[in-house]
Amino acid sequence: MTKRVGFATRLGAIAAAVGSAVGLGNIWRFPYEAGVNGGGAFILVYICCILLMGIPVILSEFIIGRSTHSNMKAALRRLSPGKKYYLFTYVCIIGSFVVIGFYSVVCGWIIEYLYQAAMGNLDGHTSQEYCIMFNSLVASPWRCVGWTLLFLVLNFLVMSRGIEKGIERVASIMMPLLFLILIIFCVKSLSLPGAKKALYFLFYPDFSKLSMRGVLDALGQAFLSLSIGISCLVTYSSYFKDDASLTKDAATVGLLDTMVAILSGVMIFPAVFTFGVEPTAGPRLIFEVLPGIFQQMTGGYFWALLFFLLVFFASLTSTISLSEIPITFMIEEHKMSRPRAITWTALFTVILAVLAALSFNVLDDIKLWGKNIFDMMDYAASNIFMLLGGLFTAVYVGWIMDRKIIHEQLTNKGLLKSRMEPYLIFCLRYIAPVSIVFIFLYLTGII
Ligand code: PFF
Repeated sequence: MTKRVGFATRLGAIAAAVGSAVGLGNIWRFPYEAGVNGGGAFILVYICCILLMGIPVILSEFIIGRSTHSNMKAALRRLSPGKKYYLFTYVCIIGSFVVIGFYSVVCGWIIEYLYQAAMGNLDGHTSQEYCIMFNSLVASPWRCVGWTLLFLVLNFLVMSRGIEKGIERVASIMMPLLFLILIIFCVKSLSLPGAKKALYFLFYPDFSKLSMRGVLDALGQAFLSLSIGISCLVTYSSYFKDDASLTKDAATVGLLDTMVAILSGVMIFPAVFTFGVEPTAGPRLIFEVLPGIFQQMTGGYFWALLFFLLVFFASLTSTISLSEIPITFMIEEHKMSRPRAITWTALFTVILAVLAALSFNVLDDIKLWGKNIFDMMDYAASNIFMLLGGLFTAVYVGWIMDRKIIHEQLTNKGLLKSRMEPYLIFCLRYIAPVSIVFIFLYLTGII
């Protein structure tokens, strides 16, 4: 059996989980989803999803991972011998490829903006010109594919050199810095004339603006943002030490992640309303709005550069955790060497990512239900794969897994108190499954 090493410190373990959770999901996707779905009501539903389903599912993944110290498939085989639950792992593996496929295209855009910021090209334009700038990027197959591939090369280089831990260490300095810079940008953005309108939009829950599709989007966004449902946190927590408090760690990951998402919204929307950008602009939203904020700041050149650099690192720690899912699986279940597992993972990822990168230009007439390949992957990742995975995890830990193991993991074999256990089990047994199944049935027209 492959020898497994643990995280050196408790902080290292949390930092890695937070590193996985905090990424483009918070900074890029959350504002655009909130914009598309009308703001306040979406955010309220989002927060309920985090508390009632997100954090309980994080905790469940931690329980599965740490109680077995193995990848999802081996864990499920060990926890339920002779049963076929482990087959669900394949859904997680496919899901992880779908996420990283579209995600790395956006990482590519971030690198382009980092480059443009370094060249000083983000300065001195009107908001219309920023729209044109983004359009010309996505219309160019070479630039889109080139930046995406560059990002993937960096990602897999880090992984093949075995320096992910180094990156995580860098990220544990960068993350607090990202937090700080978000706060600075929020303050700046709130001084813009559109701030009042933005705060109303973000925090006044007008339920007439929220459809059932919006509720599904909020749930999918919560799961994607927390990195749950495709066994990422099972893989990470399989390396956790036995004395960490899983409940505290799960709550820390959930709350920090949500704070970053909300701060991103507070940073983006005053500028959206000030510069007259449509809140419903979708995936392009932050790219059209951010340069305008930098321009308003003294030393805008420096802020832009720092911002994109920090977002780059935040996304790198997320894609590292994503790629680790199939890599650990291939190494432990198919007895591959690490370089070989990395090569296969890189190959599949590149194919999907190139398709996604080309879906705005060369392949833009391939559409299903009005969505291009990128949009389909983006949608399927959170609203199908992560939700199904979340449902599976909730039902498995809530109904099927041995309660004694759950109790042992929550209390570290009796050393800690676990007041949250009944709450956890209630959320996993009833709230999560009933809500997810209800939303699915409603949207497919069955009820
Ligand atoms: N949570 C990451 C983000 O918000 O950017 C994305 C992600 C990472 C999703 C890892 C899933 C995952 F397994």
